[in-house]
Amino acid sequence: MKALILSGGKGTRLRPLTYTGAKQLVPVANKPILWYGIESIVAAGITDIGIIISPETGGEVKSKTGDGSKFGAKITYILQNEPLGLAHAVKIAQPFLGDSPFVMYLGDNLVESQLDLFINKFQSKQLDALTLLSEVENPTAFGVAKVDRQGKVLQLLEKPPNPPSNLALVGVYLFSSTIHNAIANIQPSARGELEITDAIQYLIDQQQKVESFRLSGWWLDTGKKDDLLAANQIILDSCLDSKIEGEVDPTSNISGRVHVGLGSKIINSIVRGPVIIGENCHVENCFIGPYSSIADEATLIDADIEHSVILKAATVTKIQQRIVDSLIGERAKLHPAPQRPKALRFMIGDDSQIELI
Ligand code: TTP
Repeated sequence: MKALILSGGKGTRLRPLTYTGAKQLVPVANKPILWYGIESIVAAGITDIGIIISPETGGEVKSKTGDGSKFGAKITYILQNEPLGLAHAVKIAQPFLGDSPFVMYLGDNLVESQLDLFINKFQSKQLDALTLLSEVENPTAFGVAKVDRQGKVLQLLEKPPNPPSNLALVGVYLFSSTIHNAIANIQPSARGELEITDAIQYLIDQQQKVESFRLSGWWLDTGKKDDLLAANQIILDSCLDSKIEGEVDPTSNISGRVHVGLGSKIINSIVRGPVIIGENCHVENCFIGPYSSIADEATLIDADIEHSVILKAATVTKIQQRIVDSLIGERAKLHPAPQRPKALRFMIGDDSQIELI
């Protein structure tokens, strides 16, 4: 069995971060989202992995992720010149996939459950496709499945106005090589993309074996800021171990599960876990509250931060109000005017969101 991870796309919903970087490399608990997918695929025993990349962000994905050796896998990068849909990505990966069955994993999704469970069902029932489903409150925003009592998939609908169920398609699929013929037989949708839902619907219409697996654990699509913060919270809650590798001075107070990376200095600050602070950070006179992830080389002085993700080499100094539910990009600088400001002065990138609350 092989795996295909989709790490191309436009990432419009995570702009402006995605103007300069791949959304799949945005860190959750200081680790790129994409790497969680790779680790879970390798944990299921699959080591031959293809990764779809785009011309804009492919170089960065490749240089950070490497040839797979650090994950115990072999990674083949496959360039998709334009984001023409999930099924288009499978189409261009056909030379890599050959006749092998494969797991297709959306590189911006995080799934709690172990993949072995789904792979066992797929193999033992010799299915053509297995979709993962999760109950959601707003099915109109997702691809939705209509299934029978045994879990057989009867129909798939993309963002339906009148959803037949509350079961959304999770971004992990298992396919046999019959999917290639299905993709060859579908046309681009109204939005100009080759849709994987149309390809699976083709399999259903051809009486192929398409079943579903209902997830009980959490699943997150990190394509938007609030989903990313939710993913950060869940990962910090479930996977973070306390480890102090940097320096914490005696006037600081650390409680709960906190990881401070090598070369970081925590001075006269309160840190209440779960919190992860990367390497070579400077944190002084701060309160860092639960569910914060601070990436390497960040500088935080006289700041009060909670439930936020701060990316590499960002600087936050002397902000009087508490910063909450925020995502601060790489090398961003947040600092006040020298005196109480009479006016606010900004240089804000396209699609940025600033809320003065
Ligand atoms: P989406 O989140 O559906 O699409 P997107 O990345 O273009 O994001 P946005 O809606 O914010 O503009 O894609 C799911 C995953 O699949 C994501 O990791 C990107 C990847 N992808 C490809 O690799 N190729 C494609 O053609 C598309 C559409 C997505």
